[in-house]
Amino acid sequence: MNITLVGFMGTGKSSVGRRLAKRMGVGWTFVDVDAEIERSAHMPISQIFTERGEPVFRRLERRWVKRMARATHQVISTGGGVFVDEELRGLLRASGAVICLTARPQVILDRVKHKLQMRPLLRSDDPLARIRTLLKEREAAYAKADLTIDTSDVTIDEVVERIWALLNPLLCKGWQYLQQHGDELAGKYGGQYVVVREGRVIACGKTHLEAYQKAGTTEGETGIYYIPPASRSTASA
Ligand code: S3P
Repeated sequence: MNITLVGFMGTGKSSVGRRLAKRMGVGWTFVDVDAEIERSAHMPISQIFTERGEPVFRRLERRWVKRMARATHQVISTGGGVFVDEELRGLLRASGAVICLTARPQVILDRVKHKLQMRPLLRSDDPLARIRTLLKEREAAYAKADLTIDTSDVTIDEVVERIWALLNPLLCKGWQYLQQHGDELAGKYGGQYVVVREGRVIACGKTHLEAYQKAGTTEGETGIYYIPPASRSTASA
């Protein structure tokens, strides 16, 4: 499963996403749609908009989101327009939990104003009015997320903790989880020991000792489990 962060510019998707991926523990990665587009196009998004136009940007965006939705155990940070696209919305919802970050229009402006030239959609004599209009246009799409968190008056860490507290019970429940997700875990940790604490995999290693050393602690409700190697004949589809 993936955790996807959607929502308007300046709501904290990338900062929260990066920290949330760390919080999720071993096996989780952070991926950022905008960063991948910029990397593959060898230019900033603002330049793609200016030199190639928005339709080209949206094509690249669709390609990256589709690719990411096929993989698992990622915290995905999306650009503000991704969840407005019906097909991408469906793919992301099917690939896991979708969390929409919001903020008040003035807070959004305060967060992005120092780099307004990098925000092609906010180029306007009145960026605050532009933010309000776009938010209104996108309201219905953003409302289709599983959960919405207003980041206006909270820190990044508080948002991360809130998401973590809500999702953790769904993600990994110790031994029971291991039994239910045996095949998935075998693909990732097959032939290794995994340390599970408070319902999530926090470390893995080829030996008990290595796994415990990587975990750094055995305090709390910690268990260590051997995950048999993946076997084609027993893996379920
Ligand atoms: C966009 C948001 C931007 C970026 C592009 C278009 C949008 O991403 O993808 O400028 O349509 O709202 P962030 O939301 O990460 O700033």
